[in-house]
Amino acid sequence: MPFYESVLRPLLFLMEPEKAHNLGLWAVSHGLVSAKAPDRALAKSVFGVRFPNPVGLAAGFDKNAVALSRWKDLGFGFVEVGTVTRHAQPGNPRPRMFRLPSSRAIINRLGFNNLGADAAARNMEGVAAGIPVGVNIGKSKVTPLEEAHLDYAYSFRALARFADYVVVNVSSPNTPGLRELQERDSLTRILAGLKEIDERKPLFVKIAPDLSLGAIEDVVAVCQELKLTGMVCTNTTVSRSMLTSDSGIEGGLSGAPLTSMADETLRFVRELSPDLVLIGVGGVMTPEDAKRKLSVGADLVQVYTGWVYGGPGFVPDVLRTI
Ligand SMILES: Cc1cc2nc3c(=O)[nH]c(=O)nc-3n(C[C@H](O)[C@H](O)[C@H](O)COP(=O)(O)O)c2cc1C
Repeated sequence: MPFYESVLRPLLFLMEPEKAHNLGLWAVSHGLVSAKAPDRALAKSVFGVRFPNPVGLAAGFDKNAVALSRWKDLGFGFVEVGTVTRHAQPGNPRPRMFRLPSSRAIINRLGFNNLGADAAARNMEGVAAGIPVGVNIGKSKVTPLEEAHLDYAYSFRALARFADYVVVNVSSPNTPGLRELQERDSLTRILAGLKEIDERKPLFVKIAPDLSLGAIEDVVAVCQELKLTGMVCTNTTVSRSMLTSDSGIEGGLSGAPLTSMADETLRFVRELSPDLVLIGVGGVMTPEDAKRKLSVGADLVQVYTGWVYGGPGFVPDVLRTI
């Protein structure tokens, strides 16, 4: 059994999840963790950007871009920082991150804890990631929903110049009302505002796996009308239907229980839109999961929970298989 699974993970899993997360991020940001990517030709160009490989780190791990220059050393082909909000905010009260080891899952209700757009810009200034960088932006908790577009515009102005692509996150379950912004008029208002600021910056929308088919059709239509680059499918789910026993913990569920929901959403979006660039995320827990996402229509894939459970060897394993 690899060292991470036999020794490191059991030790990390003794710690409170958020503490283990912070320790892991600290270790990565100090260059203490690395992984050798296999020597395979996996580079691809998508929306005019060259990705050394199609496997990225999903949003939420490096919220404040503190380890930006390090992710390439773990084998990642790109990294999405954030979610960043206009205002710095502490997020929800702790505990707010929970492991479900027997389900190979995580539930989180962090609530966009982050240092704010200006601090993220300071962290990104002058730092070379060596791989493409996405910046994921969201709405501050203090900002009323009607003013959400101004919040997104502020963060976009502060951060787009550091990004190869920007993701509008309207799908976190942990900011009250946020997911209502997936609705047609609100979404159009946010995205049209960003297009006005910089029409050429590749723009994505990240959606929830809990949307009805009709609601997904609406989002895809807005993306097509506004000539967006693509979509990120999907965020965490509020559903618990795939768990044998509902833990009763509130928040967004990720990992193995999310795999088929996220795949179905991705597949449906691909059927609707042959032209949008799709980043497939949600429940990639094995190399085969990543391979399947690529085969059902993802141009790129991302991992979060699979990386927490699989450790530094996970991305190289995926890269050997896809
Ligand atoms: C602890 C945690 C924090 C997250 N934070 C964010 C976030 O800030 N913004 C976001 O768009 N997604 C966030 N996500 C969602 C992930 O980016 C991803 O969409 C989701 O976890 C599904 O992928 P997975 O099953 O590989 O984890 C978070 C996920 C976890 C587990």
